[in-house]
Amino acid sequence: MKKRVLITGVAGMIGSHLAEELLKKDYTVTGIDDLSFGSLDNLISCLGHINFKFYRVTILDTDTLKILGKDTDTIIHLAAVKKISEKDISLPTLLVNTKGTENVLETAKMWGCKVVFASTSDVYGMSPELPLNEDGDLLLGPSLIRRWSYAVSKLYGEQLSFAYLHDHKVPVVVIRYFGGFSPRSSFAWSGGHVPIFIRAILQDKEVVIHGDGHQTRSMGFVSNLVNGTVLALENDKAIGEIINIGNDEELSVLDTAKLIHRIANTKHDLKLKFVPLSEVFGKYKDIQRRIPDLTKAKRILGYEPKVKLEDAVRLTILEVQKNQPA
Ligand SMILES: NC(=O)c1ccc[n+]([C@@H]2O[C@H](COP(=O)([O-])OP(=O)(O)OC[C@H]3O[C@@H](n4cnc5c(N)ncnc54)[C@H](O)[C@@H]3O)[C@@H](O)[C@H]2O)c1
Repeated sequence: MKKRVLITGVAGMIGSHLAEELLKKDYTVTGIDDLSFGSLDNLISCLGHINFKFYRVTILDTDTLKILGKDTDTIIHLAAVKKISEKDISLPTLLVNTKGTENVLETAKMWGCKVVFASTSDVYGMSPELPLNEDGDLLLGPSLIRRWSYAVSKLYGEQLSFAYLHDHKVPVVVIRYFGGFSPRSSFAWSGGHVPIFIRAILQDKEVVIHGDGHQTRSMGFVSNLVNGTVLALENDKAIGEIINIGNDEELSVLDTAKLIHRIANTKHDLKLKFVPLSEVFGKYKDIQRRIPDLTKAKRILGYEPKVKLEDAVRLTILEVQKNQPA
């Protein structure tokens, strides 16, 4: 079995949990991150490990990336600049997610590595074909709406991955993660709604809901995403495939706030503030329903999301309360 892995974006939410899991499984892990979003605090349990090395490097630094990729069997490519709102700057999402991915694939080509590329459910856009299936058509919005740049950059990364497989025989797997969270999530908007809601409810603040809150998501604990990633890493039947990884429990944003409030049991009322979508995303039409079809993940990888949403919320609340008592 191949045991040497390079993780880009290792100091982020998924990367840090994945590094811990792979070290437990006796892999040698080289992690790189420019710490633009991630934090070394996430890597505390890895940093002293004999089989772990960390380099503060940007994936835009082609030469260093190629040097670090030398003794690697598989690159798990997670580094990215995630979704943006209308007020965020646009270029990093497009540049890091496209040029950075090209650098990773060039490195893999140079050293004969397998690549596991982290794509996103955002690429399904407004597709009405539910549950969202890897073979389905994708329905993205207009380029004048900046929110779509993340999905477009990841979709380009998918095409680029398959071009390297076709033209250069680089073995690639594309996984489309559906929203995951953990106590290490960013508690800013880019970390998704669950962590922000948890913090607001524990601090007895208003829970800000974009739109009417009836839009649904299928959120899951990070361990589900890590488990799917390890299965894709270890199973060569996944090569050349796009595979959804996540949790298929669908819940509206509003009901998620209510669920968190019930589990947190703070003795305070739930305070909701509804903000029109146009204030956050301009003309962006929010995705109304998002639920993954996990049939392929089950068939090829034997994947099953093991931690239920309620348990994930409970675990995250306990950890957040431990670190920052409300
Ligand atoms: N968390 C989710 O719910 C989710 C859902 C869909 C897709 N994804 C994808 O999974 C991957 C990991 O997501 P995450 O939630 O852990 O995000 P994250 O923001 O916590 O981690 C991404 C990491 O990449 C690093 N990074 C950014 N630009 C970099 C650069 N130029 N060079 C080196 N490192 C850089 C950041 O510092 C950060 O540590 C991303 O590619 C993301 O698009 C995540």
